[in-house]
Amino acid sequence: MRPPLRLRLHRGTTAHVASLYPFSVQGTLGYRGPYIGVDLLAGGAEFCWDPFESYAAGAVTNPNCWILGEPGNGKSALVKSLLWRMAAVYGTGTGGRWIAIADPKGEYAPLAELLGLHVVRLEPGGTTRVNPLADGPGADDEPDDRRTLRCAEMVTALVATVLDRPLTQLEDAAIYATVEHLGRTPATPTLTDLAALLTDPPAEVIRTLRRPTAEVLPELTALTYAVDKLLSRSLRGMFDGPSTVPPRWNGPGIVLDLSAIPIDSDALPLVMVAAAGWLSQLMVGPGPRRIQVLDEAWALLGNRHTARYLQSCFKLGRTYGVANICIAHRPSDLGAQADDGTSTAKIAGGLLADAATKILLRQAPDQLESATTRFGLTDPERQIVGQLTRGRALWKVAGRTAVVHHMLGRADAALCDTDARMAGNTAPQPVAA
Ligand SMILES: Nc1ncnc2c1ncn2[C@@H]1O[C@H](COP(=O)(O)OP(=O)(O)OP(=O)(O)O)[C@@H](O)[C@H]1O
Ligand SMILES: [Mg+2]
Repeated sequence: MRPPLRLRLHRGTTAHVASLYPFSVQGTLGYRGPYIGVDLLAGGAEFCWDPFESYAAGAVTNPNCWILGEPGNGKSALVKSLLWRMAAVYGTGTGGRWIAIADPKGEYAPLAELLGLHVVRLEPGGTTRVNPLADGPGADDEPDDRRTLRCAEMVTALVATVLDRPLTQLEDAAIYATVEHLGRTPATPTLTDLAALLTDPPAEVIRTLRRPTAEVLPELTALTYAVDKLLSRSLRGMFDGPSTVPPRWNGPGIVLDLSAIPIDSDALPLVMVAAAGWLSQLMVGPGPRRIQVLDEAWALLGNRHTARYLQSCFKLGRTYGVANICIAHRPSDLGAQADDGTSTAKIAGGLLADAATKILLRQAPDQLESATTRFGLTDPERQIVGQLTRGRALWKVAGRTAVVHHMLGRADAALCDTDARMAGNTAPQPVAA
């Protein structure tokens, strides 16, 4: 009798086993766009991604993206190297990709230097000011009513955050009518002009409100105090007057350095709204493909007024060909504005639905439940997210999933290193271009 065939148990990595069972690993996502790293679910195949390429290929329905992960896992590093590699593939500025970054930690300076991005550093009470109510380069292509709505939404988010409540109908209408009135004046409007007009509304605004002046003024008192508080404290010297920054729409892009505002202060969400408002002027109208990065975007998720404003920025993006990349820490940040169940669920759901690409870096065990619900993770995906190491992420690109190890080269490391201070090395590292 022939002896039975006995094979020794063999274990291998997906990279090796794939050569024996080629269909046991998934195919790659494609090669269009800058190289990010290797897809561990595709046997270590290359992983390339670009929001506009994904959109053009029909893989996603919008170019927006959320990146979430515990601090120090490589969210910002991913964005910095992505932007740098994008510039190498497509070029920058009007002929390539135009980049706008809201930078609350002041860490994009090395990238700005390499790409020639214009850095605008704002400081409370400082001398560099930008005007979120001014017209941008695409003003002629933006219909008046859309412009009024865009500016009014920004002012509403600012004031409602200060008041810590939704605006009354009259307050809301007064803001819209005043912004509309300012849009008809020949001079460039500022938030200071808006404050003056809310305190002493012109006849045209009162007519729109269809109430006698004696009734309107007392009802607008809280609003005027809130605008005053905004201009004299949180936004002082940064957004409260005419712009002191020469417009440079034709360059490769802009970095708004907000690092002078303490990261956990009440002012940061307000400053982020005004910053996003100013950047939105640059996003409207026809132009090159634009990428807007909001790092530390969790600051906008702390209340439903700012979260709703972020949602309106996403919508604007779709109209004008802007890819929004937002960085936050935890999936639960997306529902942090939990003051009423329905509106919270709607805003969080809307923000996620408006971003077809979601990149999840490592999450703490207490976040896995929330990640599973919000991102529709399977059990194995949930386990992976809890075990990811620095630089690795679970990517959800519409219906496709990949586990990507973001590869950093030596030159990238100098761009992305935020550990230098922890390691006691404060000298800037040279970057080999
Ligand atoms: N793929 C990677 N390979 C090696 N090192 C990496 C990788 N990604 C990031 N790092 C390093 O990890 C450190 C932290 O990265 P980064 O600042 O991007 O984290 P973060 O998630 O943005 O943190 P925070 O939430 O605090 O802003 C940096 O010094 C960076 O160089
Ligand atoms: Mg970061």
